[in-house]
Amino acid sequence: MASSSVNLEEIPSESLMNELLRRMKCAPKPEKHLILIGPPGSGKGTQSPIIKDEHCLCHLATGDMLRAAVSAKTPLGIKAKESMDKGELVSDDLVVGIIDEAMKKPSCKKGFILDGFPRTVAQAQKLDEMLERQGVKIDKVLDFAIDDAVLEERISGRWIHPASGRSYHTKFAPPRVPGVDDVTGEPLIQRKDDTAAVLKSRLESFHRQTLPVINYYSKKGIVATLHAEKPLSDVTDEVRKVLS
Ligand code: AP5
Repeated sequence: MASSSVNLEEIPSESLMNELLRRMKCAPKPEKHLILIGPPGSGKGTQSPIIKDEHCLCHLATGDMLRAAVSAKTPLGIKAKESMDKGELVSDDLVVGIIDEAMKKPSCKKGFILDGFPRTVAQAQKLDEMLERQGVKIDKVLDFAIDDAVLEERISGRWIHPASGRSYHTKFAPPRVPGVDDVTGEPLIQRKDDTAAVLKSRLESFHRQTLPVINYYSKKGIVATLHAEKPLSDVTDEVRKVLS
């Protein structure tokens, strides 16, 4: 046995049982390849973990991956930081590279949720080329449609758990203990780009560069538009209907 192998004896029985049950539940699930598109604060990151668990997919959020690279000060993070702080998009080549790599993870065996990617038509075209090589097709694009006016309150009240990407809201989705992640008990933080000024520039990027991506996929007939301004559980119900 290779020295890097996990020693199963060290893993608690409860974790092993849970993983076994998860794999049994996932085995008959069909593959799904999904894209979530919407402006900042529209609920992509909130709905993703629910979809991920129900359909056994991996959740690939370019924003989370870039923030991890920034905080680890990797060469990628150093390149991405300036654009992210200003609410601008980072270069297409950087994000295409990280997605290409991330899709190879074993957890993506049943398919993936792309959250925050593609964000430009150039990224969508590169994704098509990538998927064609793998013989995979996008099944659905979930368009989180919402009025800009709702987003400032959503963004300013958001708290996140950086390690998992779980997001909370002081008013709409409060954690059980203020400032603390429900699952791990670790502290929550507010994102540096979650200010009214940076939101303005993120929205501007969304309208100019990302809305054309919805049009790109509409022509392929795979876009489902959600009423993302509705309460959280209503949006979850809409997602379930679209994916059933
Ligand atoms: P990224 O991290 O992707 O940010 P974003 O797209 O701006 O999206 P958010 O994470 O802000 O919003 P969300 O829709 O996930 O909202 P959430 O569910 O948390 O990107 C950050 C930056 O990285 C970009 O600006 C760019 O620089 C760079 N980047 C990333 N991808 C890139 C790419 N492909 N190309 C180039 N650059 C890229 O919800 C928000 C809040 O509202 C939460 O507090 C939540 O609890 C609450 N909430 C959610 N749903 C509801 C509801 N229905 N009712 C009430 N409250 C709700």
